[in-house]
Amino acid sequence: LSYKGQEYEFPVITGTENESAIEIGKLRDTTGLITLDPGYKNTGATKSAITFLDGEEGILRYRGYRIEDLAEKSTFLEVAYLLIYGELPTQSEYETFNIEITHHTLVHEDIKKILEGFPSNAHPMGVLSSLICSLTAFYPDSLNPNRSKEEIDLSIIRLLAKMPTFAAWAYKNEMGHPVNYPDNNLDYCGNFLKMMFALPAEKYEVDPIVSAALDKLLILHADHEQNCSTSTVRIVGSSQASIYASISAGINALWGPLHGGANQSVIEMLEAIKADGGDAKKYLDKAKDKNDSFRLMGFGHRVYKNFDPRAKIIKKAADDVLGKLGVKDPILEIAKELEYAALHDQYFIDRKLYPNVDFYSGIIYRALGIPTDMFTVMFALGRLPGWIAQWKEMRENNEPIGRPRQVYVGENERDYVSM
Ligand code: MLT
Repeated sequence: LSYKGQEYEFPVITGTENESAIEIGKLRDTTGLITLDPGYKNTGATKSAITFLDGEEGILRYRGYRIEDLAEKSTFLEVAYLLIYGELPTQSEYETFNIEITHHTLVHEDIKKILEGFPSNAHPMGVLSSLICSLTAFYPDSLNPNRSKEEIDLSIIRLLAKMPTFAAWAYKNEMGHPVNYPDNNLDYCGNFLKMMFALPAEKYEVDPIVSAALDKLLILHADHEQNCSTSTVRIVGSSQASIYASISAGINALWGPLHGGANQSVIEMLEAIKADGGDAKKYLDKAKDKNDSFRLMGFGHRVYKNFDPRAKIIKKAADDVLGKLGVKDPILEIAKELEYAALHDQYFIDRKLYPNVDFYSGIIYRALGIPTDMFTVMFALGRLPGWIAQWKEMRENNEPIGRPRQVYVGENERDYVSM
């Protein structure tokens, strides 16, 4: 096999089916090799034309466009359109898309009753995934796998439109505050911010700096090819489950601390370092010490062996936003010191441990006034177009029902001996 100019040789594996499977498993574990076998729909066998990611080079592109350009020049809704429909919208396509989304931001009043059934200590991610799944009951046509393209497009619009409403309401439930209805005079992020932060009898003005920063953060999180939540959406959708049920499943996958919870862990770590005097170097040494249980959060990534391109953009955004808002957050300084020290330390250089997107995103969310347990909800808000695009691509390609490959490692055939 020739890959990136280098030749690789692989052994021919012989033996029984079980023996070969075990040998292939070992080969895969030692070489990182994965096989593309469309019979199995594990994440390594997913063909997709949405997001390109090169972990060695630190490249991320949506539909061929560099993430740096999109974050700089596009709005989140433009990027959503690009991911879902494959092209950046023309002016008139964008206007239509925007108007349609604006017209579907309201949710059925009975959904409010579901919300009211949640105790205020319910985690907002549980509330969000339940409300999204409840759309299957309010729009039962979504259960029909043979819906027309127009009907599917309507479900997509509904999801994009109602997600900010649900996300803000999940927060209001936690705060014990009455919910705010959408304000359709505002843009996507402005509307979300108002529903989240406006208090009864108080005038609320959307801060354009906050809104623009949020828009950029959502773009950076909009897709990341076959990660845990995205492959969940594809695999649930491959059974022809409703789009709402599939997205709800993705939200649950994202909820786990190893996936969407990572930026919360970074903030908790930075807070702990600050409380202990703010000595970044000391904590870097702890991270290197095998006998110390301290783990450096927000560094390294399963696929990036180089700088996470999102981290570069977000680091600059953190500086800009905190500067413009006049927020002095000591944990940003600790984060920068940690990053600087790690990037100049042979231990981290050898292991290619660079800061990832989670290292800075929590700092911005804090500056925008978003509480820690809403971080994963913000991630879900950003990731929604990616999940939709992946669900749609999987269905349009008529992919068979998902079935992860298993490498059997248990007992071989045994003779049954009765007791
Ligand atoms: C993501 O953006 O989904 C995370 O970086 C996790 C991943 O890609 O595996």
